Amino acid sequence: MTINVPPIKCQGIKTKLVEWIKDHSTLENTGTWIEPFMGSGVVGFNMRPNRAVFADVNPHIINFYNAIKQGKITAGIAKEFLEKEGAQLKATGEEHYYAVRERFNKEGEPLDMLFLNRACFNGVMRFNQKGNFNVPFGHKPERFAKAYVTKIANQIKYVSQATSQYDWQFICADFRQTISSASEGDFIYCDPPYIGRHVDYFNSWSENDEQELYELLSTTPAKFILSTWHSNKYRSNPAIEKYAYRFTILTREHFYHVGAKEENRNPMLEAIVLNYNPLPQFELQLEKQLALFEKSHKPQFVLYSQRM
Ligand SMILES: C[S@@+](CC[C@H](N)C(=O)[O-])C[C@H]1O[C@@H](n2cnc3c(N)ncnc32)[C@H](O)[C@@H]1O
Repeated sequence: MTINVPPIKCQGIKTKLVEWIKDHSTLENTGTWIEPFMGSGVVGFNMRPNRAVFADVNPHIINFYNAIKQGKITAGIAKEFLEKEGAQLKATGEEHYYAVRERFNKEGEPLDMLFLNRACFNGVMRFNQKGNFNVPFGHKPERFAKAYVTKIANQIKYVSQATSQYDWQFICADFRQTISSASEGDFIYCDPPYIGRHVDYFNSWSENDEQELYELLSTTPAKFILSTWHSNKYRSNPAIEKYAYRFTILTREHFYHVGAKEENRNPMLEAIVLNYNPLPQFELQLEKQLALFEKSHKPQFVLYSQRM
């Protein structure tokens, strides 16, 4: 499967897991794809649903995609903007980067966010306690070379075309509101921040949020997939045993690269939690698990592992 990469990047982006999620999701023709933690949008965009609600508490993400949907940002407009700003970056380096950052933190212009997101250190989005973008310069004054600008313009073109072809809404909302709006036949894909891992102004995530998320998902009439981490070399995700045990859990190994050294490649077992049984061949295993559950009165724990 060719994955279409979106024009903005964020922490915890699921580009590498899209295919796995797609293989296990199931959206009815008449249903709405509901994504309460859209981030970059890479998962839902690649599902290409006819109807979708993409939500996030970060207003800058939502403004950016609404600007594309409304035609205020097109591939041509972004190209022209990045060429102009890129030339200034080439001329004055970090001085220009920090001038754009200051301008963005005053005015919140979506094109400035695109520039910062693609020129900052590690290509992430991080906001401080005042809600200001605070990622330092990525130290590449020649960042916006012709080929790179064309690549970004094509990523925008892809989203522009999709928003005019499909009924996609972008809303700034807390997950509680978004999940409560789901009906039977809809499909919810949840990718919340991982506790303690992606912490910033729009990504603060507490034990209470985690608990409320599972409570809401337990009562939704829609089907859902929730992405989370299962375990790494040092510890396991306590939420799996605490809240996710009653659902189907699939795991898959994923490597996060921290630095260049081989020993810093940390294998992480990623999990998806589902409120349905995704594949018929799992039926038998599930029945066995249920029989065990009835015998032991222990929580049902259905875990299927897949290796990449
Ligand atoms: C791990 S990222 C999602 C990444 C996304 N799946 C991707 O592949 O790009 C989590 C997102 O949740 C958003 N978020 C954090 N707290 C939220 C809340 N209470 N309600 C809605 N969105 C929230 C953050 O702004 C962030 O964009």
